[in-house]
Amino acid sequence: MNIAVIAGDGIGKDVTAEAVKVLGRVEELFGLPIALEHLPWSADHYLKTGETMPANGYDLLRSFDAVFVGALGDPRVADNRHARDILLGTRFELDLYVNYRPVKLLDDRLCPLKDRGRKDVNFVVFRENTEGVYVSIGGRFKAGTTDEIAVQEEINTWKGVHRIIRHAFEYAKASRLTKVCMSDKSNAMAQGHALWQRVFKEVAAEYPAIKASHLYIDALAMLLVKDPGQFEVIVTNNLFGDIVTDIGGALQGGLGMAASGNIHPGRTSLFEPVHGSAPPLAGKNVANPIGAILSAALMLENIGRADDGKRIEDAVEAAVHAGQTTADVGGTLGTREAGDAIVARLRDGA
Ligand SMILES: NC(=O)c1ccc[n+]([C@@H]2O[C@H](COP(=O)([O-])OP(=O)(O)OC[C@H]3O[C@@H](n4cnc5c(N)ncnc54)[C@H](O)[C@@H]3O)[C@@H](O)[C@H]2O)c1
Repeated sequence: MNIAVIAGDGIGKDVTAEAVKVLGRVEELFGLPIALEHLPWSADHYLKTGETMPANGYDLLRSFDAVFVGALGDPRVADNRHARDILLGTRFELDLYVNYRPVKLLDDRLCPLKDRGRKDVNFVVFRENTEGVYVSIGGRFKAGTTDEIAVQEEINTWKGVHRIIRHAFEYAKASRLTKVCMSDKSNAMAQGHALWQRVFKEVAAEYPAIKASHLYIDALAMLLVKDPGQFEVIVTNNLFGDIVTDIGGALQGGLGMAASGNIHPGRTSLFEPVHGSAPPLAGKNVANPIGAILSAALMLENIGRADDGKRIEDAVEAAVHAGQTTADVGGTLGTREAGDAIVARLRDGA
């Protein structure tokens, strides 16, 4: 397994060190050879060299079995140009059209909702990852004046909508799940989201054993807080997926707990915690490494090592139950110590 590791900025570096530690332990214990190549691409690198990533950067990434990213974003790079190239650029260039975000509460005490627990928070979100409003098509006219006009286009293609909806149904089928909910805003965005409506109905008809439902995004946001237990698989566009998975992160106990995969099935894919670089926390040994460690587990699952991924998830869950966590989820440990606790649980065969 050849893995490219981009620790990036801020707490990305702190949490990546722990994910790397866990991968090292998995290699030692379970005989999985993992070669990690650390790439320096980050705000520091950009400020030093003027280069966000090398000209052949995307080809280089394609040569690995998977890519692991900590987080990117630094206040010294005002336009976050490096993050755009490294993260958004890779999603587009490697055509990583599936943004896979499992939302699973590991311990009842972490749930922010009253009288809700693990049985209520266990679903996955598939966010379309290559289209929508994130394609940066548009422009500004008379910028900086009171007559300024700003246009930001949303792109929806049949191919893009179809493949993410198809993926959601295939995932549900393979996981023996029975419900897929598609969310859009077709009442207000009658053109682009009519395409989502049509494709969803067409694809759903091919899966009679799966209950297909639809919610407008505002209703979905409300129900995720009011009654998340009704959801198994959610599929939505790039922007809405970005937002609802932060709600999902909160339901799991906080952004530090949430993992994600940016996937093109069968090709090199990228795995990263959902959170950003949290500059105020950087280098202080306080960031929660669990989102990063669970992202490493997703990565192993995706490259054919599901057993090792599950071992990591079990070790994380055991550490969370034992309260061996950072302060954001109620523990007293530092980032490194929380990582050590998970490594120790792997040794115990958890
Ligand atoms: N995928 C990414 O790399 C990514 C995602 C989101 C934001 N960003 C970038 O990160 C920078 C900071 O953005 P932001 O502050 O909006 O979001 P953020 O996720 O960095 O932080 C939001 C809040 O969550 C807390 N938090 C996040 N991760 C945590 C962790 N592991 N442990 C404990 N607490 C944690 C932070 O203290 C903060 O209060 C910006 O430059 C932004 O563009 C990058």
